[in-house]
Amino acid sequence: MMVKRWVLAACVAVLAPVAVAGGATDDAIEFRQGVFRALEWNFKEMGAMVQGRKAFDAERFALQAQRVAALAQMPGEGFIKGSEKGDEVQTRAGAKLWYQREHFDRLLQQLAERSAELAVQAAQQPGRDALRPYFAKVAQTCKGCHDDYRERF
Ligand code: HEC
Repeated sequence: MMVKRWVLAACVAVLAPVAVAGGATDDAIEFRQGVFRALEWNFKEMGAMVQGRKAFDAERFALQAQRVAALAQMPGEGFIKGSEKGDEVQTRAGAKLWYQREHFDRLLQQLAERSAELAVQAAQQPGRDALRPYFAKVAQTCKGCHDDYRERF
């Protein structure tokens, strides 16, 4: 009984990498989409606070700004070579992203920098009105990149 279990475990260990080998592209796409969704989760609520649709909570805003700053460093890793198209996963990454990669990377860099600046400001809790322009700069970066590099279907 013990032996059989051991053999089974060995088979699983050997086969597992084969089973996921074709999925590296899908993994990368799901990773970047997941990061963007986590960004959105935080950023949406911050937007509601900044625009007065939700009561402003300086601590919550600072926490979310910190999360956004950390997440903003991540999506680039998911845009790996060959991930223009998924196997089983849909992507909305626009075709021109892949031949304007330098510009796209600059926008990602801008997202990271502006998010970091927002987090620094938010940590000082200067109040909603003072944070609004820093929030707006990040929001413009999201929108600008989506206009150019995210398909609309
Ligand atoms: C440098 C370009 C760029 C920036 C900056 C950017 N995005 Fe995106 N975003 C994309 C691309 C490209 C996709 C499509 C990814 C895919 O489907 O593979 C996307 C997808 C998304 C999605 C959909 C994810 C899904 O599940 O399909 C959300 C939500 C999103 N972005 C939110 C944001 C937010 C919020 C910000 C700013 C805080 C932001 N993005 C900044 C390029 C960008």
